[in-house]
Amino acid sequence: MRRKVIAGNWKMNMLPNEAIAYIEEFEPLVKDTKNEVILCVPYTDLFYCLMNAQGTNIKIGAQNMHFAESGAYTGEVSGKMLKSIGVEYVIIGHSERREYFNETDESVNKKIKAAFENELKPIVCVGEKLEQREAGTAEEVVTTQVKLDLEGLTNEQVKNTIIAYEPIWAIGTGKTATSEDANNMIKTIRHQIAELFGNDVAEEVIIQYGGSVKSSNAKELFTTSDIDGGLVGGASLKPEEFSKIVNYDA
Ligand code: 13P
Repeated sequence: MRRKVIAGNWKMNMLPNEAIAYIEEFEPLVKDTKNEVILCVPYTDLFYCLMNAQGTNIKIGAQNMHFAESGAYTGEVSGKMLKSIGVEYVIIGHSERREYFNETDESVNKKIKAAFENELKPIVCVGEKLEQREAGTAEEVVTTQVKLDLEGLTNEQVKNTIIAYEPIWAIGTGKTATSEDANNMIKTIRHQIAELFGNDVAEEVIIQYGGSVKSSNAKELFTTSDIDGGLVGGASLKPEEFSKIVNYDA
C-alpha cells in the first residue's frame, strides 16, 4: 500500500510571523495523522518553518530551485542551499512557473536531477490547459511532460519522486476535476511510468492530485484507486481547513 502524501503549496503568501503562528495552530491538529504532511513555503519562511516544525511530523519544502549548484545567477537559490538549512522537499515545474517564468520540461528535468544530487525529494508538477483538455489532447500533453521531465533518472530516483497531476484549469478556479477524471489521468501517468521504468517503480511512485482541493472534496479524491494524496494551494493557507484535508481519513 502506498502512503498518502498531502502537501500545502503556500505560493507567494505568508510572512514569517504568520508562518510561525500557522505552525503553532496546525501542529496539534495533524500530530496524530499517519499521512505524510508537507508545507511548501516561500524562501523567506523556510528557516522559520524548519525551526518551528522541528520535532513534529510536519515536513518542509521549497517551491522552486535552480539547477546549478552555485554561480552568477542573481536572485536564484540552489538545491545545495536548500539542503544546507535542512529542507527536505522541493516543488519543481509548477504550472505557474511554466507559465510566468519560462520553466520548460528541459529545465524541469535538470532541476529534478540537481534536487537528487542534493538529496532533496522533488514534487514534480504536470497538467494540461483547458484548451488542451477540450481538444482531447490532455493525455498526450501530460504523458509527454512526464516522459521529458523524468528522462535519464534512475529507477530509484523515480521511486523517490512525487508527481503532482494538476490540471491548470482546476488551479485556483474552484473547479475540481471529478475524482474519476483525476484518477483516470493518474492511472495513465502510472501506466506510462510502468512502460518507462517498470512495474515496481510504477506501483511505488506517489502521484498526487492538485487543483481546488478542499476539505469537502478531499476524501472523495484521496480514496480512489490511484490518487495518493494532494498538492493543495488556497485551502492550505488556513490551518484548520488544511488540517481537515490532511485528516480526511480520520
Ligand atoms: P489551488 O488548490 O488553490 O487550486 O492550487 C493548486 C495548486 O496550484 C497547488 O500547487
